[in-house]
Amino acid sequence: MSNQLKTITVIGAGGKMGMRISANLQRSDYQVFYCENSPQAQAQIGAQGREISDAASVVPLSDVVILAVPDIVLGKVSETVVPQMKRGAVLLTLDPAAAYANLIAQRDDIEYAVAHPCHPSVFLQRYTKEEHEDAFGGVAAIQHIAAAWENGSDAQRAELAQVINVMYGPVDQVHWVTVTQLAYLEPTLVETVACMVGAFMKEALDETVKHSGVPEEAAKAMLYGHIQIALAVAFRATNPFSDACMIAMEYGREKIVKPDWKQIFDQKELDIVIARMLKIDAIRR
Ligand SMILES: NC(=O)c1ccc[n+]([C@@H]2O[C@H](COP(=O)([O-])OP(=O)(O)OC[C@H]3O[C@@H](n4cnc5c(N)ncnc54)[C@H](O)[C@@H]3O)[C@@H](O)[C@H]2O)c1
Repeated sequence: MSNQLKTITVIGAGGKMGMRISANLQRSDYQVFYCENSPQAQAQIGAQGREISDAASVVPLSDVVILAVPDIVLGKVSETVVPQMKRGAVLLTLDPAAAYANLIAQRDDIEYAVAHPCHPSVFLQRYTKEEHEDAFGGVAAIQHIAAAWENGSDAQRAELAQVINVMYGPVDQVHWVTVTQLAYLEPTLVETVACMVGAFMKEALDETVKHSGVPEEAAKAMLYGHIQIALAVAFRATNPFSDACMIAMEYGREKIVKPDWKQIFDQKELDIVIARMLKIDAIRR
């Protein structure tokens, strides 16, 4: 397949995601322009041997414009960038929240896509030191990507997947879903639930040490090993939880989890959490 997507602009190239994806794009065959507002972030880009471009000059030349700016300013930034884009170009955002909330400036003759990293799986077989150290992904440990391009054809998605594979590489697979489905994945599944549970387990660890006087190293050793076995049993059914463990789990669920917790999957709840994240009063429909 011939690749029509050749020129890429990264807006917010000196931010956390901007720096990560730029490092990968810089090594590719794509022609890449880097745009950044903050002088401090511009210095970081320069230190990596990348030149800063003026967005108004390079956006009109670009087949893909990546908005790697904070979600709370995405709407405002898109109002400047979208009118500068060439017909048929793709505006790629890195998180579904702003797209879900309809905050991004619209034009009928450009395309809109979102691509979010899944991060390397907890079950990934890692062989090298670099793979072990790459918790976030995009360096050495392979990860999947969840993406949305609702109006894109299979051929267009395949082309954009090549860009996604480079910017987030190494990538195993790009999973195409709708923007709303992507919002159910993040925030609902992975932030509202998984990250919350991760932070909750840290709090439980601190409380165990404080409350029982168990040495911190002992508590960490016990918890880290049990996080591993709990995930293996729950997700991989490697072996069953013991009968006594299941009784303790049931007690924990009664004490900690609200019976109506699945409300978080109601779309009005998704609207509430996304509006809160974007610091807006309500989602635009
Ligand atoms: N940080 C993460 O772990 C992570 C993970 C997945 C997706 N994302 C998504 O990536 C996007 C960027 O998030 P981040 O955490 O990298 O943000 P960040 O705050 O680290 O970086 C944003 C950068 O954009 C720059 N910027 C702001 N307005 C600009 C403008 N008009 N022109 C040029 N540069 C401008 C800022 O100076 C900053 O350097 C968001 O959509 C976020 O949801 C972030």
